[in-house]
Amino acid sequence: MIAPHSVIRWTDSLLLGVEFVDHDHRHAVDAINHLAALAVEGGDLTADAEAFRDHCAEHFAREEAMMTRTAFFGLEPHRDEHQRVLAELDGIILRLKAGEDCRDYFTEALPQWFLEHRATMDFVTADFARERGWTGPG
Ligand SMILES: [Fe+2]
Ligand SMILES: [Fe+2]
Repeated sequence: MIAPHSVIRWTDSLLLGVEFVDHDHRHAVDAINHLAALAVEGGDLTADAEAFRDHCAEHFAREEAMMTRTAFFGLEPHRDEHQRVLAELDGIILRLKAGEDCRDYFTEALPQWFLEHRATMDFVTADFARERGWTGPG
């Protein structure tokens, strides 16, 4: 039974086979579901959005370090997308602080972005790292 506010259901089908990536993604899904629930309830999203932004910055840095160490061919576009979404989150946080209603971002755009990013850039990156015998941190 999925709670009514859970927008992403974590299943093994979301695993990518790189331990730190899967661990971070599990955390991200919990955080995104929490943000979506808060948005539906009309709660203050600012602090949790800032915590999620910080988690993303740390996770993206870990993925980028893996891409560098495995000489991943798609490092630049993947890193560019990480920077784009961090800037997007910064913009949303500013809008929240200004009292704007950003609920749709947390109930629709952000979960959709996570699922697409995991299924495309992160999928290819993790697959490449595993083929290269990645045994790095996590
Ligand atoms: Fe990721
Ligand atoms: Fe990524």
